[in-house]
Amino acid sequence: MLDVREYVLKTPPGGVKRYDHDALCDLLKVEDYSRVIFEQGVGREAIVRVYPSNPLMGVRDMTADDLVMDARGRIQLGTYFDGSPLRFRLFDPKTGNAQRGAVFGTTGAGKSRLVQAILIACKNSGIVVHLADLKHGQSVPEAKGNVATRVTTQYEAILMLRGLVAEAERRMIAYGERGSSGFVIGAPDPLTYGIVDEANRLLEKNAPFREEAALLIKELGRTGRSVGVGIIIAAQAGHLDELGGSDTLRGMLKEGEVILLRWSSAMMQQLVSDGLLPRGESLQPIPKVVGQVRKIRRFNEERADNEDDVNSQGMLYHLTGIRPTSMARTFVVGSVAPTPGFDPLILALYGDHAPPGQAIDLEEHMSAKERQVASEGGQAGTVTAAPAPESEPDTSRMSTAERILAALPADGLAEVDLMAVLEADGGRRVARGSVRTNISTLRKKGQIARPDSTGLIVPVPAD
Ligand SMILES: Nc1ncnc2c1ncn2[C@@H]1O[C@H](COP(=O)(O)OP(=O)(O)OP(=O)(O)O)[C@@H](O)[C@H]1O
Ligand SMILES: [Mg+2]
Repeated sequence: MLDVREYVLKTPPGGVKRYDHDALCDLLKVEDYSRVIFEQGVGREAIVRVYPSNPLMGVRDMTADDLVMDARGRIQLGTYFDGSPLRFRLFDPKTGNAQRGAVFGTTGAGKSRLVQAILIACKNSGIVVHLADLKHGQSVPEAKGNVATRVTTQYEAILMLRGLVAEAERRMIAYGERGSSGFVIGAPDPLTYGIVDEANRLLEKNAPFREEAALLIKELGRTGRSVGVGIIIAAQAGHLDELGGSDTLRGMLKEGEVILLRWSSAMMQQLVSDGLLPRGESLQPIPKVVGQVRKIRRFNEERADNEDDVNSQGMLYHLTGIRPTSMARTFVVGSVAPTPGFDPLILALYGDHAPPGQAIDLEEHMSAKERQVASEGGQAGTVTAAPAPESEPDTSRMSTAERILAALPADGLAEVDLMAVLEADGGRRVARGSVRTNISTLRKKGQIARPDSTGLIVPVPAD
């Protein structure tokens, strides 16, 4: 490439700690900042290349072949800026380990398309997937019928994660009894993944199942790995607290497969200050719009019509790969413009055959209390009758009294069960004392019946 300028720089020992891309471009007199690629090498060397235009702009389409796991347990998701392959590990045949993966990025950065690629790869590599698509199934709609389990509500996601943890435990006991020390694909169990897109919805503050979700994900990361049960999450967040606190992520980020798409600098700083991303500060930022020239225009100069079109989707850093500070990009997955129904290109990548594995029986993982709440809701035993927060009115805006009234079936509830419903209805956590005070006020107002010998809290019909 004749028209690429290259500069080799000496950096302080340990590499560049604070990298100011804009200042470097100004120094080089390059107006389109995305043409300049900075890469920290090992030791004291860094390379700066100035391209005629950003080298990741015209990446090719993803093919089904890219997404078949190779003998080393990897798939190819895309390419680095210099054309070398971007690989993602789904299995480590040397250790027998499933992986824990995390895909981070702001909204629209390309998380779900990347998840879609991983889902396709799993289906076509014989890997069983249990998927939670927490945007009501809208993030990766084509996964429907192409994964073993697909759930779309938070409560179902919890049941699914409980099922995965139970499967990991079952395998540990079985392998222990058999005297096998490591996992071998298909002997007898398949490699299995739990995949959660929009995991931030499950883990953010005030999310109804936050604590349990964080616990289950951590548990899977810890015990599932060595028995062939992995976990991959995709999330956006402005703060570590929105992901269940840094603890949930520590294990994942230390030893997992971590991909960072376009990401807010505040979040980046937090990950660095928490010790989760050692090299975060020397990453060249991924711009929203590639090719933009930040030049002042004179009044008779026209701006290009498309100059504010977002075009950097899929650009990323593979933080746990061999080149954590090199900019890379996923291949093009599916149609670039939205399609009215399922995306035919994505369906073609999945293929027509049935996905491997069997669905997790969600009901099997309901607790006795949840079963009871579900049956008192009228429809015994169905998962949808359980406390599914998304089917309820917006409890975060309701008063405690309103939530109590909404929670009570006509024949009443014991206090312990009322507490369980309030725990799971999606609203703020309320203390038992506050529930009691509210009940006594509601009794005074005649909206709840006077206490009787059954001890049940029974609403008084409104008319
Ligand atoms: N690898 C890709 N190939 C083709 N188009 C892509 C790719 N990644 C992203 N896009 C484009 O960007 C859009 C947003 O991508 P995607 O839905 O994956 O983002 P996201 O990070 O999941 O966003 P959100 O936070 O809204 O869920 C897609 O609809 C698509 O048009
Ligand atoms: Mg998405």
